Amino acid sequence: MTGLKTAKFKIVGGKALDGEVVISGAKNAALPILLSTILTDEKVCLKNVPDLADVKTSFKLLQDLGKKCSFEAETGVAVIEGGVTSHVASYELVKTMRASIMALGPLVAYAGSAEVSLPGGCAIGARPVDLHIKGLKEMGAQINLDDGYIKANAIGAGRLHGGHIIMDKVSVTGTENLMMAACLADGTTVIDNAALEPEVEDLAKCLNKMGANVKGAGTSRIEIEGVEKLHGCDHSVVADRIEAGTYLIAGIATGGIVTCCNTLPSTLDAVLQKLREANALITVDGTSITADMRNRQIKPVTVVTAPHPGFPTDMQAQITVLNALASGVSSVTETIFENRFMHIAELIRMGAKLEIKGNTVICEGVTRLKGAQVMSSDLRASASLVIAGLAAEGTTIVDRIYHMDRGYEHIEKKVRGLGGEIERIY
Ligand code: EPU
Repeated sequence: MTGLKTAKFKIVGGKALDGEVVISGAKNAALPILLSTILTDEKVCLKNVPDLADVKTSFKLLQDLGKKCSFEAETGVAVIEGGVTSHVASYELVKTMRASIMALGPLVAYAGSAEVSLPGGCAIGARPVDLHIKGLKEMGAQINLDDGYIKANAIGAGRLHGGHIIMDKVSVTGTENLMMAACLADGTTVIDNAALEPEVEDLAKCLNKMGANVKGAGTSRIEIEGVEKLHGCDHSVVADRIEAGTYLIAGIATGGIVTCCNTLPSTLDAVLQKLREANALITVDGTSITADMRNRQIKPVTVVTAPHPGFPTDMQAQITVLNALASGVSSVTETIFENRFMHIAELIRMGAKLEIKGNTVICEGVTRLKGAQVMSSDLRASASLVIAGLAAEGTTIVDRIYHMDRGYEHIEKKVRGLGGEIERIY
């Protein structure tokens, strides 16, 4: 781990990216789907599972809970089987991956009780889990916060019951946690103001293949009729829309042409619209998306992040790099997380003219960024620094790239395949 933590990227910028890149399965779909296997003791076979640090942490968590997991990184096939024998998700794991909170719902639904460490704040904000807790209470879970752990018990004879949950705020993992719990609850659960993200829909698809009865995923009202038992299934994880958006932006920022293959273009509508506004020539052909920026000048775009189908907060840092290189003034407003601007100071060190005003970054475009030593603070911030490094004149060293390894599969290989110069150094 220490080795990983000291790894850095050395990027020699200034080359226009050119070529095709195969997009991996979505991290944010794979994680809830992996944790949904807690709901059955039968064999679940998953395909298109990305080889990422967070995926490995999920296997560790499932193994700690007593499940048997095997994963072939080269093929992206994971097999999870056996029943859980423990109901505790330890601080050691939850602190490295906040998504572990999604073990709470499935555990209490399957085992009748669960203890999951309370995740703390993180680099992108306080990130409370009150909505997860409130929803489970609505389904009859008794919840105590004790020794830094959320301790949940299903009080109705060890089984949760259906409930009507109105989410105060749209929450992706909150919706997923409650949807999973409701699958084994007694009766029908309705989740209103549910998250519409494609990853929620993909999880629902997988749950239904396991025998669940989930309707309306992808809309703001999800109805789940609880069943006695779930069974094994085969499922292929949906494409990572954020990884695709990141490579398209890298192509545009470097004035090149990048085709992302194996994508689900309909999940990227808001992003593609902004890339077109930024003057990229975007073409969609089946599951491929091409951004052609050769001999074109980046135009500034106004971006306001919003829950799906709005512009994703997970693309905010990356698109800021385009605005930093655009011909004019623009703004990027972050509405989902209160502290997701840690990359701004680093981009300024590379010559960007950016100024934070409240939850908005005012961007005055410059013609060139210059290579510098910069530091990653979270996953998407790291992606923006890598894009900036690829577009910049000279050499950029991006430190703390363990953040990047949490969410971008084979990043060096993929960037090099597009002609970018990137190397992992220690
Ligand atoms: N919130 C609450 N209470 C809760 C839950 C959320 O107030 O109980 C607030 C959050 O603080 C935030 C807002 O609601 O202000 C939305 O947060 P959400 O719960 O939707 O975020 P999340 O489920 O924790 C997922 C992704 C994030 C992505 C966000 C928003 C996973 C594993 N994580 O997080 O992905 O940014 O949705 O789309 O799905 C990433 O991949 O880099 C990443 C951070």
